[in-house]
Amino acid sequence: MQLIDGKAISEQIKKEIAARVEEIVANGGKRPHLAAILVGHDGGSETYVAAKVKACEVCGFKSSLIRFEVDVTEEELLSKVDELNRDADVDGFIVQLPLPKHISEQKVIEAIDYRKDVDGFHPINVGRLSIGLPCYVSATPNGILELLKRYQIETQGKKCVILGRSNIVGKPMAALMMRKSYPGDATVTVCHSHSKDLIKECREADILIAAMGQPNFVKADMVKEGAVVIDVGTTRVPDATRKSGFKLTGDVKFDEVSPKCSFITPVPGGVGPMTIVSLMMNTLLAGEKKIYQ
Ligand code: GUN
Repeated sequence: MQLIDGKAISEQIKKEIAARVEEIVANGGKRPHLAAILVGHDGGSETYVAAKVKACEVCGFKSSLIRFEVDVTEEELLSKVDELNRDADVDGFIVQLPLPKHISEQKVIEAIDYRKDVDGFHPINVGRLSIGLPCYVSATPNGILELLKRYQIETQGKKCVILGRSNIVGKPMAALMMRKSYPGDATVTVCHSHSKDLIKECREADILIAAMGQPNFVKADMVKEGAVVIDVGTTRVPDATRKSGFKLTGDVKFDEVSPKCSFITPVPGGVGPMTIVSLMMNTLLAGEKKIYQ
């Protein structure tokens, strides 16, 4: 069994990005600029956004954090999105989700200029992904692809089972794994809460991607000998023995599953660190106008 070290890979990629940024700047180019909008004070969102700002610093990007209180109106938020769309200095920006109930997330996502949508959530980016056109790919699937590439994991003709059909992980992951290129060319099955014979499907998987947000759902008897297991789960399970008060728990029962795997991602330290670095990769692409002019 080989552990997929997302933490180490993410550190390596940040160094590569930082080197590229210094090269751009040395050649008289502009330092890439990522802006993030954070509404309210949700603990998880605060942590994620702080990590994104920190990663920007490490990569040599300019970053701007724009905060709103939880009672911000949809109109005010949309007006800020419009301002960022028109700000030539901002290469890409994100609106951290979830948003308060009185604001339509979909409306906000659709208001973002798709050319600056480094989260890859805008329907134009999602649609382009599904037909294999260049686009911003959302962070978690993009991070998983990068791990498969860097560990040179074979995907062609493999049976890939994805647990979960969310818009930001399951669906784009399925589109990517069936693309006509590496890492892709897999036979993809997406399972969800209404799937019959989910255990049987999992047992047949060469590559199993667990992204349904149910801690310890995948047990040893659901995994084929030699499978590649990618654990996207990051549920905060209460744990009084920890200073934070919680333990980050994956969707895979690591201790019993890992001995059966050829490769497996741990939680934490697997997919998690890659999601932030994916946003950094997209920001570099945005800065270099590599996808859209
Ligand atoms: N909330 C949880 N994950 C994400 C993400 O990748 N982007 C944004 N904007 N919000 C999130």
